Amino acid sequence: MHNESQTLPFLPHEVQQMVQEFYVLQNRYSAALREVQTKLEILDDEFHTCHRRNPIHHIESRIKSVPSIMEKLRRKNLSVSMSSAVDKLYDIAGIRVVCHYVEDVYTVADLLTGQDDIKVLAVRDYISHPKANGYRSLHLIVEIPVFLRDGRVNIPVEVQLRTIAMDFWASLEHMMRYKAPGEVPADICRELQEASCDIAAIDARMQSLHERIRSLTAESGDAAPSP
Ligand code: GTP
Ligand code: MG
Repeated sequence: MHNESQTLPFLPHEVQQMVQEFYVLQNRYSAALREVQTKLEILDDEFHTCHRRNPIHHIESRIKSVPSIMEKLRRKNLSVSMSSAVDKLYDIAGIRVVCHYVEDVYTVADLLTGQDDIKVLAVRDYISHPKANGYRSLHLIVEIPVFLRDGRVNIPVEVQLRTIAMDFWASLEHMMRYKAPGEVPADICRELQEASCDIAAIDARMQSLHERIRSLTAESGDAAPSP
């Protein structure tokens, strides 16, 4: 991450200061995301070594843009400033972990939150308690230490864990809200809700099939290649 504020001399001093402050913060959140992502990759690799399969299908991460930070602060009636964002928003750094099976979601979450440098600030289980619209995922807010020149800073990171099927559903539902904000026909909402239930049933069926197939390979002593 580069400090570009010195390359913007035409900006007023206060704005230059804000830009500089933003780069400092962006650097911290980006470091925290890399720390969490590395932890997840290490767990995934170790799981593969022991069980010959990966619980994690893929990982995505993002840092909230300044416009969406400002939009969220306004929406929540909070003062619109960098310090308010740092104090009040816990999803400036976000990481999404897409797993194969529901069991993997909880295994990965337990292994991550069990690490002694991770502090769990909040857990929202939208898998055991889906949202009314059908949204399913396990959300964690964790705090992770990042070591900078003047020492340690604890940075919050939002971790969303879900199965491939839940991710499929959430992408479509997100697209719908983005494309047609506030004017979604009731029949589409109902069908999305039904699709979410179908997806939960398929996830449960795949989990059970996976367990049966795993017991077959355990009996025959064969190690199945990873998918
Ligand atoms: P935001 O203000 O949206 O960040 O919500 P929140 O702080 O109240 O937290 P919540 O756990 O409800 O949502 C956090 C994030 O989860 C969102 O920013 C989305 O990425 C995702 N999410 C939550 N609900 C839904 C949903 O109904 N549909 C989809 N597609 N994603 C959702
Ligand atoms: Mg959010």
